[in-house]
Amino acid sequence: ERIDLKGYFVLPGLIDSHVHFRDPGLEYKEDFRTGSMAAAHGGFATVLDMPNTVPPTDNAAEFQRKIRIGERKSVVDFGLHAGFRSVSDVKGILRFMPASFKVFMDLTGISAVDGLFRELKALSAPVPVTVHCENRDVVMESMKELKDMSDPSVYALARPPLAEEVSVAEVLALSLHHEHPVHICHLSTVKSLQLVEPFRDYVTCEVTPHHLMLDSGAFRRFGTVVKTNPPLRPPESRIYPEFLDRINVIGTDHAPHGIEEKRKGVWDAPPGIPNLEVVLKLLLTLVSKGRMSLYTIRRMLAEEPARIFGLRSKGRISEGMDADFTVVDLKETGSISSDDFYSKAHYTPFEGFSYTGTPVMTMVRGRVVMRDGEVLEGNGRYIPAEHDSKPETSGSEVDLS
Ligand code: NCD
Ligand code: ZN
Ligand code: ZN
Ligand code: ZN
Repeated sequence: ERIDLKGYFVLPGLIDSHVHFRDPGLEYKEDFRTGSMAAAHGGFATVLDMPNTVPPTDNAAEFQRKIRIGERKSVVDFGLHAGFRSVSDVKGILRFMPASFKVFMDLTGISAVDGLFRELKALSAPVPVTVHCENRDVVMESMKELKDMSDPSVYALARPPLAEEVSVAEVLALSLHHEHPVHICHLSTVKSLQLVEPFRDYVTCEVTPHHLMLDSGAFRRFGTVVKTNPPLRPPESRIYPEFLDRINVIGTDHAPHGIEEKRKGVWDAPPGIPNLEVVLKLLLTLVSKGRMSLYTIRRMLAEEPARIFGLRSKGRISEGMDADFTVVDLKETGSISSDDFYSKAHYTPFEGFSYTGTPVMTMVRGRVVMRDGEVLEGNGRYIPAEHDSKPETSGSEVDLS
């Protein structure tokens, strides 16, 4: 079959390095089938799933089980981030080649992470450590000072920028000390970014579409639908599209929950926002306004996630790569509607936003899995991560040796 792509723009198959597909255990929120259909619909050929499922993906048996689930249900290719209960789990998981080990610093103290670094060093495993940075002590202190507990915008005060920045600083010290690669996910404040900048040799970072597009004022308009961790930030501390040159990756943190759960009120609603089916429309709209370039999309949603997470056959269009393509129409205009979502989470804070530019085709290893907004059959495969022993630096950096 010949496919006519005249008038369209072709990108490497995009990679979302941060999704929560909730499978196994929380399939009422999302499962590997619906999550991967949402990915294909949004223009993603590959996703990396997070380990906070039920039970968590924190030992070799669960890791292998999730590979099987994905291979049975996924429309797009996928890799997996691993959790761990104790360092004794690490060796067994490494056999299955995880994209990274994920640590939720909002739940764990620094000693658990230090133990992980030591174990990875002892095993000579150059697998990066992905961190959710929020310091628990700062969160607890901030909670004590809150006044009107029913106003959804107090959520931004309960987990302030300082909680993230203290946690980032702790993780940077560990990364430098152990000379081990760290990836900071959903980095959300300008000071976190300033902290990270001198540590480029070891540290990479990610921003989400919501931290890039919204600020804490969104709580007034959208209520707890925009409750997420870390919270949306005020205008003076948030990340703007103009900062993208200093950030490695855009990851969606696609975190679907039931809409009834999301409406439970500021303290009971679960945190997280579903993003897979809106992010590319939002970014292409920024491109149409001259606020970012298509090359930045290629770098942040293809080349960099492939490099950081060891996906050797992904992220670029050239010989030896998988035939993964994301085709975009830069001219189509419309307004974002959750009616056409494949995700089980049928809502978005971006409802009604007007966009210019949309994905029109997703191809995974030569097979069209989405065309003109319709998701077709796919056979997504597990992509084991192959990490370099010394992380290759990105092209923009100067080699002084
Ligand atoms: C995530 C989720 O729902 O799993 N929620 C969130 O607010 N980002 C967990 C996480 O990424 O921290
Ligand atoms: Zn190491
Ligand atoms: Zn997180
Ligand atoms: Zn997440």
